[in-house]
Amino acid sequence: MTTQLPSDDPTRTAAWSTLSRLAAGLSDTTIRDLSEGSPMRPAMLTREAAGIHADFSRQRVNAEVFAALFALAEERGVAGLRDRTLSGDHINVTEDRAVLHTALRRLPGDALTVDGQDVTADVNAVLDRMSVFADGVRSGAWLGATGMRIAAVVNIGIGGSDLGPAMAYQALRHSSDRDIDFRFVSNVDPTDMTEAIRDLDPATTLFIVASKTFTTLETMTNAQSARAWLVASLGEDAVSRHFVAVSTNAEKVAAFGIDTANMFGFWDWVGGRYSMDSAIGLSTMIAIGSAGFRDLLAGFRAMDEHFATAPPAENVPLVMGLLSVWNRNFLGIQTTAVLPYSQYLSRFPAYLQQLTMESNGKSVRLDGSPVHYETGGIYWGEPGTNGQHSFYQLLHQGTSTVACDVIVVAATDNPIDGMQDMLVANALAQASVLALGRSAEEVAADGTAAELVAHKVMPGNRPVSVIMVQRLDAFTLGALVALYEHSVFVQGAIWGVDSFDQWGVELGKKVAMGILGELTGSEPATFDASTDASIALYRSLT
Ligand code: F6P
Repeated sequence: MTTQLPSDDPTRTAAWSTLSRLAAGLSDTTIRDLSEGSPMRPAMLTREAAGIHADFSRQRVNAEVFAALFALAEERGVAGLRDRTLSGDHINVTEDRAVLHTALRRLPGDALTVDGQDVTADVNAVLDRMSVFADGVRSGAWLGATGMRIAAVVNIGIGGSDLGPAMAYQALRHSSDRDIDFRFVSNVDPTDMTEAIRDLDPATTLFIVASKTFTTLETMTNAQSARAWLVASLGEDAVSRHFVAVSTNAEKVAAFGIDTANMFGFWDWVGGRYSMDSAIGLSTMIAIGSAGFRDLLAGFRAMDEHFATAPPAENVPLVMGLLSVWNRNFLGIQTTAVLPYSQYLSRFPAYLQQLTMESNGKSVRLDGSPVHYETGGIYWGEPGTNGQHSFYQLLHQGTSTVACDVIVVAATDNPIDGMQDMLVANALAQASVLALGRSAEEVAADGTAAELVAHKVMPGNRPVSVIMVQRLDAFTLGALVALYEHSVFVQGAIWGVDSFDQWGVELGKKVAMGILGELTGSEPATFDASTDASIALYRSLT
């Protein structure tokens, strides 16, 4: 019996069939085969946008594959969906919401009316309020309850309300206000909060409670404990000088006891993992100043404009997204390692994990029909060169093929004799060996003992993108994040999934509440046998 595939199925497109055929035809062709004798390949396969140079010459693709990928984008209506998204259509169908993180970076005056509301005006009004507040904290115009300057900012949030701000602070630390200490508390493990505040003075500490919904268990619990810590030392009246909120939910913010005058809002059309450039970025703005934050937005905007207008062959996020689909669906690669050769980007892989996997980790399409092809890949990573001394062994010689994004920052903010060249040499060496490998003949030619040759052969053929920027400033970071945001969008559009919902994380939260009821005795319950056994073991150990 043949199953009727839904009409909106990417595998029914002519381009999908072509790509399947091309992948089969390339099965014996390595990246080395494609590269050798093609000195123009790097020039032909490197694209630039908003200061980001993306070299795709180490991908396992040829001109025919590129043509078929662009045809796939055409058949799947990627450009049309992009335009509908940018104009505020409710493309997040399961939540009936617009998806408008791009509106967060529109310039004042560049009006966009969505659902009867001028969203650009709303965005810029919040930005102006944030600017006054953030610059006030930096200048000392905003003081704690006892009249002391703020010396520590603690962002309390989780997921998109933590990962973006934590990543951005780390990335832009060089240009941050070094008189203020920034900390990020996300885990409901009491250790996270305890360690974050143990050496802080409540009189000089500002808490930002960042939560889109203002109902997230971890964040609310951490916020309550921070509040208790502050009140124990400074009293109730101090709360309004030491707590501000970032949320879409004014009612819950007020119920928590934070004056809504000290709340910075955003909107349901900003997904949590797409929110680091909304008010969720308040800690970033305090760290780098309001002008620095506007530079960050300018970087996002430059990449948005590029994505919206560049022709397909020049369009970096489109090409990047299509290559991810090629690797995932046609070369069978399940995972991508994100390898920033920049200590400042050490949290970037963690940030991308949520962006990519919460967005495209879906098994049903927009109409609820199950997919019968692979969707979102697994993203993970660590900064080089540390990763080289850890998991790169598997990247080079393991049985799984891992695609790699090698991110290189050309100019360092911290020059120390020769170290930057050493760092970049490592990045380029890894990219080369991962893609091109080393044959038995080459290994033997080095004088390797015959019995060791097999151990030293490097299969290569790992697809690598080398993404290089001149320096890591706010503008570049914005452009880099937007590049990945749009690449994720392209992948979701090809697969026909809703990249902007996250139903998969909801059930776990609900079940946790039930188990909590049993653990605290407030609502005794029994669960499956394994859970009951684990609860019993936990009790016996505490
Ligand atoms: O659990 C997933 C999630 O909903 C993420 O999508 C979101 O970024 C995170 O939780 C935090 O949510 P909130 O900002 O509402 O506290």
